[in-house]
Amino acid sequence: MTHFKVGDRVFGETLKGGAFAEYACVPATVCAIMPEGIEFPEMASVPIAGITALQALITHGQIQEGESVLINGSSGGVGHFAVQIAKAYGAKVTAVCSSKNVDFVKSLGADQVIAYDKENIHQHNGKYNLIIDTNGNLTHKDYTRMGQRGVMVGFTTIGHMISLLLRRATSKFPIAQFTAEANTKDLEVLASLIQNRKIKVHIEKTYSYKDIPAAISYIEAMRTKGKVIIVWE
Ligand SMILES: NC(=O)c1ccc[n+]([C@@H]2O[C@H](COP(=O)([O-])OP(=O)(O)OC[C@H]3O[C@@H](n4cnc5c(N)ncnc54)[C@H](OP(=O)(O)O)[C@@H]3O)[C@@H](O)[C@H]2O)c1
Repeated sequence: MTHFKVGDRVFGETLKGGAFAEYACVPATVCAIMPEGIEFPEMASVPIAGITALQALITHGQIQEGESVLINGSSGGVGHFAVQIAKAYGAKVTAVCSSKNVDFVKSLGADQVIAYDKENIHQHNGKYNLIIDTNGNLTHKDYTRMGQRGVMVGFTTIGHMISLLLRRATSKFPIAQFTAEANTKDLEVLASLIQNRKIKVHIEKTYSYKDIPAAISYIEAMRTKGKVIIVWE
């Protein structure tokens, strides 16, 4: 059974790729109605990064109002949504990014920002209820020194990830690892946060579909500020 009618404006993701297209056919269960007054280019940047940030904080991190969260990697796609979602849920946010992005991350609402090129995060002694690592360079020691629980979103190298997972297997410290999965309910939460201006999508660059290779090259450098989108004129 579908919960949409013909002509509804929806956003979502494909489960099998194929989204570099003007039209795509996807299951209704991974779509939701677009917020009013928001256009497709903006919403195209929401599903994967937004769902990942939401599920890291809420489903797996179980952040509660008033808790503190450290978000390592806070200026990219997942990170810039995570900072805003954590604030929308009433958390106190400490965000980690490069010094060039400190003002941007503050503008997202972070209470405190640490520039990792000025302060060594591996020696940072702040204490937090939750650690979210979108960059993936935190060690097991970093999680246990700073946090009470953690969620690993990204990883830097396979070796680093395996060593962290092995260390996790022999420790009682809770670190969740997950693969984000879109569903209508979570997409509706994101749509509502956007509608209510709790989340603002930051689009750093817009490419034409003719320049998809250039867009991919830019994204691969992993220094995106917010999101990169591709449009079909
Ligand atoms: N688990 C899942 O289901 C899932 C889903 C989506 C994505 N991911 C993973 O999550 C990660 C982030 O994805 P994304 O789309 O947000 O990437 P992105 O848009 O390319 O952002 C990467 C960010 O990493 C930051 N960064 C680089 N070096 C850093 C360091 N040493 N310390 C802290 N931050 C650093 C950069 O910020 P600065 O420029 O300020 O340094 C940049 O904003 C990727 O590894 C991706 O594969 C996982």
